[in-house]
Amino acid sequence: MNYKDVIIQFFEDHPELAVASIEKAAGLSNGRLNRIINQHAAVTPLVIERLRPVFKRYGVELERRAKVVSFFNNKNGVGKTTSVLATAICAASMKKEVLMIDLDPQSNLTSVCKVGDHLGHVFSGKPNCYRYVHSGQNSRTKIDMISCLYHEFWDAIDKMEKDVDFYDRLDTVLDKYRDEYDLILIDNMPGRSKVPKMALVASDYVAIPTRAEEKSFERLRSMLPEIQEVVNLKNPKLKVVSIFTTMYEADNKDHRLLYEANCIALPSMTNIKIPQALTSIDEELGDHNFLRTGKKNSVVRAYMELTVELLNNMGLDVEVPNFINKGKA
Ligand SMILES: Nc1ncnc2c1ncn2[C@@H]1O[C@H](COP(=O)(O)OP(=O)(O)OP(=O)(O)O)[C@@H](O)[C@H]1O
Ligand SMILES: [Mg+2]
Repeated sequence: MNYKDVIIQFFEDHPELAVASIEKAAGLSNGRLNRIINQHAAVTPLVIERLRPVFKRYGVELERRAKVVSFFNNKNGVGKTTSVLATAICAASMKKEVLMIDLDPQSNLTSVCKVGDHLGHVFSGKPNCYRYVHSGQNSRTKIDMISCLYHEFWDAIDKMEKDVDFYDRLDTVLDKYRDEYDLILIDNMPGRSKVPKMALVASDYVAIPTRAEEKSFERLRSMLPEIQEVVNLKNPKLKVVSIFTTMYEADNKDHRLLYEANCIALPSMTNIKIPQALTSIDEELGDHNFLRTGKKNSVVRAYMELTVELLNNMGLDVEVPNFINKGKA
């Protein structure tokens, strides 16, 4: 249910309450809620922020708008960064508003998006959101990114006050953004640092890209207990939303065998496989060109399917753009 429907439902369930009294209790201007209910005025993040505590008094939770998804795998080079950007572009083409967070001091997402100037990393107090505009999409498309630069990032981590639990930091920062976007996608660094763990604490979902190769398979099996530990200790709502295969070559027998072995060992493995691209995927993504070839491009098609599946699994409505239905498979 969207926010407008929740507001309408609230007043239907509480006919004894005057709309004006709720506006007053929430510190909203006179007539604001009536305009939302009757005249299709927008439900802004500020309205939700003000209404949340008032509705809560009546036992109604206004959920935070954004679903936060960590793209996570402590194995390097499995397609985390590529998948964050490709998923953001596909979701934006389905009219979702997306914030990407580069939480990897290698700054690969920042580089692929060609963010040159220092805009402030996620812990810098008030980071700027870089607006990534994808060509061919309508002007309502919203993909923002918070960049990351190596030295500034580690400096910030080192300087963090000791009195606040390290693992809660990102969760607190993200609170500022949760009502402004439909999706917040986090690009995690590889390895067993405590930074990706902090991302898992702040996330609703984990998406795990993996490759059809022996080492990735082994790593995957050892990673799932790590995720479970975060669930048990810090974040019971965290769910694995998808385990998907990247850089897959259908005519490679080893890939096929390992993919099948993965599926048997991991029932949550999706059958969507992102094929090995023949051209440089970084260039297409970085040149804001990724969707240009539409459904004819097997990588685009697979990322579109993956995005639809992710959104569905998270309970979000999906509006697949026309061009992807029309293109030849
Ligand atoms: N489907 C694909 N086809 C071909 N190349 C790909 C594909 N997906 C990713 N790549 C390339 O593989 C490399 C590794 O991908 P990526 O940087 O997304 O992995 P990563 O998991 O983020 O790596 P790291 O752990 O270092 O952050 C990149 O050069 C990227 O362009
Ligand atoms: Mg990466």
